[in-house]
Amino acid sequence: MPTPAMLAAKTAELTIGDCKTELPVVVGTEQEVAVDIEKLRAETGVITLDDGYRNTGSVKSDITFINGEEGILRYRGIPIEQLAENSTFIETAMLLIFGELPSADQFAHFRSLLSEHEMIHEAMRHSFLGFPATGHPMAILSSMINTLSCYNTDVLEMDDEKDVENAAARLISKIRTVAAYAYRTSQGLPLVYPEPEYSYCRNFMHLMFSSPTRQLEFDPDVLRALSLFLILHADHEQNCSTSTVRMVASSGANLFASCAAGVCALWGPLHGGANVAVIDQLQRIHHSDMSVPELMELVKQRKEKLYGFGHRVYRKYDPRAKILRQHVTKVLDKLGKPDPLLDIAKELEEVALSDDFFVSRDLYPNVDFYSGILLRAIGIPTNMYTVMFAIGRMPGWIANWKEVREANSSIYRPRQVYTGQPKRDYVPFDQR
Ligand code: CMC
Repeated sequence: MPTPAMLAAKTAELTIGDCKTELPVVVGTEQEVAVDIEKLRAETGVITLDDGYRNTGSVKSDITFINGEEGILRYRGIPIEQLAENSTFIETAMLLIFGELPSADQFAHFRSLLSEHEMIHEAMRHSFLGFPATGHPMAILSSMINTLSCYNTDVLEMDDEKDVENAAARLISKIRTVAAYAYRTSQGLPLVYPEPEYSYCRNFMHLMFSSPTRQLEFDPDVLRALSLFLILHADHEQNCSTSTVRMVASSGANLFASCAAGVCALWGPLHGGANVAVIDQLQRIHHSDMSVPELMELVKQRKEKLYGFGHRVYRKYDPRAKILRQHVTKVLDKLGKPDPLLDIAKELEEVALSDDFFVSRDLYPNVDFYSGILLRAIGIPTNMYTVMFAIGRMPGWIANWKEVREANSSIYRPRQVYTGQPKRDYVPFDQR
């Protein structure tokens, strides 16, 4: 933790051999101290090296605050626990994107934009038939989000705040439609149109599960659980996918292209794909003779990952996992749908949190550990879990894309330390 003297310091001194330089010190709202190395190379010829960005602050951002040591997460200053308890996904999205909780009028206006833009172009609907039924919904989602830039050309260049609001509403609304269509295509089911009067979550469930001839009703507890899931995933500062969105945005790429790249980054099992990997791991125990302690030993022996555990930033229980753990039990009880995977997950957590390997490395459950069990309870198929994460993360990606644009920031372009061959000559084929 920074001492008062460190917080008061204006500069940091760095000595490299016979070269001494002073670097500015930056202090954030929550007393995070950083050394600004922007001019280091210009002044000394030296760069910094930080494989995997373990200790690199890549931006100054006003959006989300995390304190990994204390297990704190706040969107625009508001604790995640308060938002989970009181907010809706759309209100939280507006908070993230525009910086403040909306007034009733602002909220109603944004909702009307979501309704206005909930459909996708008819030609785009037909594009779904071009994907094989076995195509992964994440592949379809990223392709289709990028494709939106072909059909929304009027908001590719944004002149003012109204254009940004319009583009944000389109993307948040249309990702829900695209995601549901990706699933329905994979099932060979006909596509249904959205219902403008429905809430965001109800409309998503309708698009997923109703049919053109049969509109389904959904339990309010299911819709509330879905909203909670989306709120908890709405932003998480400079994670891999958000950094990707910022990186792409910094080249001047449009919002749709930047967010399509975010979907690709999210797909991997170390990031958003972990919610599927967790369920696979729990199923492995459920459907075999293997006990929880046996799986733990196997994970350690083979140096495998226990999915849903560990985090780059949190050294404590992920606050999102804490909320999900509480709610998943309540939701299963309310819906009268006990899930053996929840009992296995709880046992796995107990065993891991008393295992020296996990304790000594500060490995606690992260957001993905209980989220899949919640999604199972509300009927979402496993291959859609990471897509659900992407729907939730969209406001965070948009807020970060907007921040890059507004800061008029220079292109993100890290340097490297080259460790390859020194200069050598080209050798023609016949001499190799
Ligand atoms: N299971 C077993 N060992 C682990 C795990 C795990 N889940 N996570 C970290 N470790 C070990 C790792 O092997 C290393 O051990 P050693 O010091 O002996 O080499 C040590 O703990 C430090 O881990 P790290 O890999 O340096 O940590 P990282 O900050 O690079 O990676 C992480 C963070 C989330 C990628 C990693 O913890 C992980 O792979 N977890 C499983 C995948 C997962 O649940 N991902 C979701 C993350 S939260 C939501 C999201 O971002 O999408």
